[in-house]
Amino acid sequence: MTRRPILVDCDTGIDDALALAYLLAEPAVEIVGVTTVSGNTDAARAAANTLSLFELAGADDIPVAVGAHDFRGRAYAGGAPHVHGDDGVGGIALTASARAHDARAAVELIDHLASRHPDLTVLALGPLTNLAAYAEAPGVARFDRLVVMGGAFAHSGNVTAWAEANIHNDPEAAAVVFAQDWDTTLVPLDVTMTQTLDATDLVRLEAIPGALPQALAAMLPLYLDFYAGRVFPDRRCALHDPLAAMVAAGVLRGVSVSSGHVDVRLERGERGRTVSSRGSSTQRWVRGMEGSAVEVLLGRLEGREWPG
Ligand code: BDR
Ligand code: CA
Repeated sequence: MTRRPILVDCDTGIDDALALAYLLAEPAVEIVGVTTVSGNTDAARAAANTLSLFELAGADDIPVAVGAHDFRGRAYAGGAPHVHGDDGVGGIALTASARAHDARAAVELIDHLASRHPDLTVLALGPLTNLAAYAEAPGVARFDRLVVMGGAFAHSGNVTAWAEANIHNDPEAAAVVFAQDWDTTLVPLDVTMTQTLDATDLVRLEAIPGALPQALAAMLPLYLDFYAGRVFPDRRCALHDPLAAMVAAGVLRGVSVSSGHVDVRLERGERGRTVSSRGSSTQRWVRGMEGSAVEVLLGRLEGREWPG
């Protein structure tokens, strides 16, 4: 089987780590590169986390480039240690990799891989800062498809009442990305909040031998602690980034989908809110009216079961 090449742009926290581990094991895809961005943690730490995880998996040849530290509209201000731990991976003290990060800038690495793989899928699991820079970089290669974990439509936000974290961190960048004529699929909270990992799943993960599953199992209790009681009544957590990874791998597809312009609110109070402009042309949208249609997965997904 030909494996679909995929570049992951991420802010390697706990659910990003789960997504990377899933993609390493998924026969439908091959991770050909990773670029990092600040979000759950800072971009340099996200790259260090990714290199450590790859070392645990024996994946020693995937380039990992450090992307944007600061966002477009504001400086990075410390990530989400209450959700992902001080180190982004649940405070488990991953051993630093002996391998250094790739010396190229994120835009350069994406361009290199898009030139080499015309069928490249880009999977964005963090703020869209690097992808906005790519959109504005002159003469770069076009990639095949973009899948983004981000946004909230009928579902409430997870940072403010309206806004999801990846979009809220850098709404100006998201507006630029959604205005491109790229083949873009958005995987928002509307679907990711329905896909959860619970205490029983954690026990199953703990039983899998190997350095990578053991590290994932060790980082999950902190993530479960954040969700338990606060977001879900029982001990379970949302699988935002792994779900988007399964969509990018082509093993899950949306049954309930909306396709139209996605606009990003920039004003105070609603900053980072994503709005589908479909059928609402009388309202004043802040940005992105000229963008091409973005596919938004809104409800039920179908395809393969979450790997056992
Ligand atoms: C998204 O924000 C980050 O904290 C997670 O890794 C995920 O990408 C969920 O809103
Ligand atoms: Ca993420």
